Amino acid sequence: MRNLTQPDLALLAFAREIKDKAYAPYSGFRVGAAVYANGEIFQGVNVENAAYGSTLCAERGAVMAAIAAGATTIDGLAVVGDSEAPTVPCGACRQVLAEFNPELRIIMGGRTDEVMVMTLEELLPEAFVRGYLDQDDEK
Ligand code: THU
Repeated sequence: MRNLTQPDLALLAFAREIKDKAYAPYSGFRVGAAVYANGEIFQGVNVENAAYGSTLCAERGAVMAAIAAGATTIDGLAVVGDSEAPTVPCGACRQVLAEFNPELRIIMGGRTDEVMVMTLEELLPEAFVRGYLDQDDEK
């Protein structure tokens, strides 16, 4: 397990604190996320919908808040869910995170004190990023 730093623990606390605000009447699974960007903390929760596919994950909610505030990169992410083991970001969230920092450090927590730290590169190797779109422009 990678060493946890003070900033990791602080970000994790912000994710844990916001989790109770999740809107999860269908799954009952609450998730809180905190993003560090532009020297500030942005929080998000999962927001479910009666049309299940319209649900938005906590991680993407936090990223959208950071970008709307003017951030162009994401410097850290913590996510805490209701699972026993630390909650990992879903595939769609990994892809969105790769847009803003493919080397992102991700701190994950669940219902217990167990904490997991991984990089986005580990969670999403060979991500499809914008560089691929520039490779053959004969426009
Ligand atoms: N969820 C998140 O918010 N983030 C994740 O990384 C995993 C899943 C939410 C979506 C849905 O509201 C609930 O957890 C169950 O899938």
